[in-house]
Amino acid sequence: MPVKKRDFISISDFSVEEIQGVFAKTEELKKNKFQDAFKNKAVGLIFQKPSLRTRVSFQVGVWQLGGQCMSLSPAEVNIGVRESIKDAAKTLSRYLDLIVARVFKHREVEELGQHALVPVINGLSDLFHPCQALADIFTVKEKRGNVRGLTLSYLGDGNNVCNSLLQITAMLGMNMKVACPKGYTPNKDILGFAQAQGKKSGASIVVTPDPREAAHDADVLYTDVWASMGQEREAARRAKIFKKYQINKEILGFAKKNVLVMHCLPAHRGMEITDDVMDSPNSVVFDEAENRLHVQKAIMLKLVEK
Ligand code: CP
Ligand code: NVA
Repeated sequence: MPVKKRDFISISDFSVEEIQGVFAKTEELKKNKFQDAFKNKAVGLIFQKPSLRTRVSFQVGVWQLGGQCMSLSPAEVNIGVRESIKDAAKTLSRYLDLIVARVFKHREVEELGQHALVPVINGLSDLFHPCQALADIFTVKEKRGNVRGLTLSYLGDGNNVCNSLLQITAMLGMNMKVACPKGYTPNKDILGFAQAQGKKSGASIVVTPDPREAAHDADVLYTDVWASMGQEREAARRAKIFKKYQINKEILGFAKKNVLVMHCLPAHRGMEITDDVMDSPNSVVFDEAENRLHVQKAIMLKLVEK
């Protein structure tokens, strides 16, 4: 029986043991950057939205593994518009060994995964950003040695990044407190998943409208933009609604002294995070960004190497 191909569309596609395996491989790859595991392999990045970190880190990562990578924007491919996702998936599978897709609707990346004969990695959808969350928690592990029992406090929009963080923290036994305004809470099904995982791992999940309550005693303070890609027209309205969820010096005062300040980037300085906090010694935002490269190499190797 041929081995069924695996996708990485959501954190829950990996078991706890597999996540730990990816972290171990990441540590190894960080020390030994250049490999030839992707010699004679081609990777395609199919992006419907802009990207700096995801695009560059995948492209450099494939190159460091000895493979070829190409990046296709909507102007070139326009997946789901110029032709169906199903036909594009089947065609791309004849050329590529791995697909990384950044889409608007989560079901589009799921559909790609269903029809592609090669592994598909979610490079961000409206529901999840799993590569980001893996890199983030790897960064916490790197800084603190272990993540179990630590508390990550997320302030802002209950969005794709928040959903993926809820999944991974709960699976790994890390507590998560989410502070967001009414109407901007994380996806209910994801919260249900996190609560169920938390019962197994010992993690607690709290959602509150109070940013100070969430920040209290935090080991990690995390935020993301208030208006995600595709929500630009709501930006001014959201800026008012989210104002009190800004990570600033006052909020930092509620957290542990050695709190790690995290942001997936791009950041809107002066909005969800102030300059002084973003540039403070507590901030590890560029370590997170760097770890995208190392973690994604480990994910690609896991999916492609048999
Ligand atoms: N954090 C992140 O995914 O950044 P990009 O949108 O620049 O890829
Ligand atoms: N929530 C943001 C993350 C960007 C990396 C967005 O979807 O635009």
